[in-house]
Amino acid sequence: MNKFSRLGFIFAAAGSAVGLGNIWKFPYITGEYGGGAFVIVYLLCIVFIGLVVFIAESYLGQTSEANVSSTFVKLSKSKNSNWKYSGFMVFGGLIILSFYSVVLGWILNYIFISFASLPESSELAGSYFNSLVSEKIELQIFFHTIIALITIFIVLRGVKEGIEKINLILMPLLGIILFGLLIYAVNLDSFSKSVEFMFSANWNKIDENALLAALGQAFFTLSLGIGTIITYAASLPKNENFIKSSLYVAIVDTIIAIIAGLIIFAFLFEAGAESSAGPGLVFISLPVIFQQWGVLGNIIAIAFFTALLFAGITSAVSMIEPPLMLFIERFNMTRKKAVVICGSIFYSLGIIALLSMSNSFKDSLTFFGKNAFDWMDFLTSSISMPIAAIMTCIFLGYFVDKNKMRDKFTQHAPKIVFDIWYFLVKYLVPFAIAILLLNKIGVIK
Ligand code: PHE
Ligand code: NA
Repeated sequence: MNKFSRLGFIFAAAGSAVGLGNIWKFPYITGEYGGGAFVIVYLLCIVFIGLVVFIAESYLGQTSEANVSSTFVKLSKSKNSNWKYSGFMVFGGLIILSFYSVVLGWILNYIFISFASLPESSELAGSYFNSLVSEKIELQIFFHTIIALITIFIVLRGVKEGIEKINLILMPLLGIILFGLLIYAVNLDSFSKSVEFMFSANWNKIDENALLAALGQAFFTLSLGIGTIITYAASLPKNENFIKSSLYVAIVDTIIAIIAGLIIFAFLFEAGAESSAGPGLVFISLPVIFQQWGVLGNIIAIAFFTALLFAGITSAVSMIEPPLMLFIERFNMTRKKAVVICGSIFYSLGIIALLSMSNSFKDSLTFFGKNAFDWMDFLTSSISMPIAAIMTCIFLGYFVDKNKMRDKFTQHAPKIVFDIWYFLVKYLVPFAIAILLLNKIGVIK
């Protein structure tokens, strides 16, 4: 098998982790939950839960050197072949990719309008975004198709020539763009307000919903629960320190989320806009602010949406790779055939997702009060990802040879690291995620 280089793995895993979750979602949920206190809760979730599961997935992949399904069978003490069904989690990735690709399509559309003209008022910005989503079906299909083709083109070339290469190119570019935006933001009068908002704790808005949002976000942002990290780590060379690599990726992901928040809130406060605008923050509030800055605003808008696009593309490829590897290894397919199958699935589901928000089709594509787009989000983020994460922890805590794990950990870190990790994986994390899961499906309120 063609393995990543050490740096290649870190770049690819960081590319997967850093995505719309950091630059679009993290700022708006931080805004909704009032800033600093939410950031603290989120950081605790990253360290004690996200990082723990990340290390777990890296261990599994690097040890098995196989697709998700075979990983569980190979590493179970009993070699029980029923573990092969754990491979179901990779379909979560295809479903996320369906609507992720639609959102990336909107972003591509916004890059184009940033070259021409940006909306002049919040009303215009709101109605522009709403008409894109509810009326412009062909346009959305067009952009979704471009994103799908880019994704397919990259993964067709394989892990080393496709995924590693694109990440080694796009991640530094993303870093440069974000750095430029940060410099601009630091020079705004509102930057200090932004820092204060992100780092001074206001506990009023921290209720159980905030805790659940922070936990869910910690999972999503680190790409856990669909087999991405297992699959990428399967291509991490055997003797590399998977604990250190995991730590680097979690740190990079967290830094980028914080920087994105600082930039976006500085922009918002500069224009006197609300920090609690929700999902429309990036598509409605920001373009109006950019517009007020004249030509410089157009340039900043292009830079900002390009950063989102780059971050998103490197995440998109990491969602399709787990099912590809599974199909290639377990069903003996060529990469080409696997790409055609997985590509058609997410492409068609993406079209259903975007139709389900259009005026013409929303009635026929809404089930039990949720449209297909929201269902795909709900079934993955709230159901399949937490289930997969619980299963991964229970597997490692109860069905894998503890001595072998300890040996491998202690090659790279002091024994205490293993002891703490093992305790968290076996007891705390599955329990915490189970509470999240039961809450989301409304069993406990
Ligand atoms: N971590 C990515 C983000 O923050 C999303 C993602 C989830 C990518 C699951 C891969 C797997 O946007
Ligand atoms: Na992320």
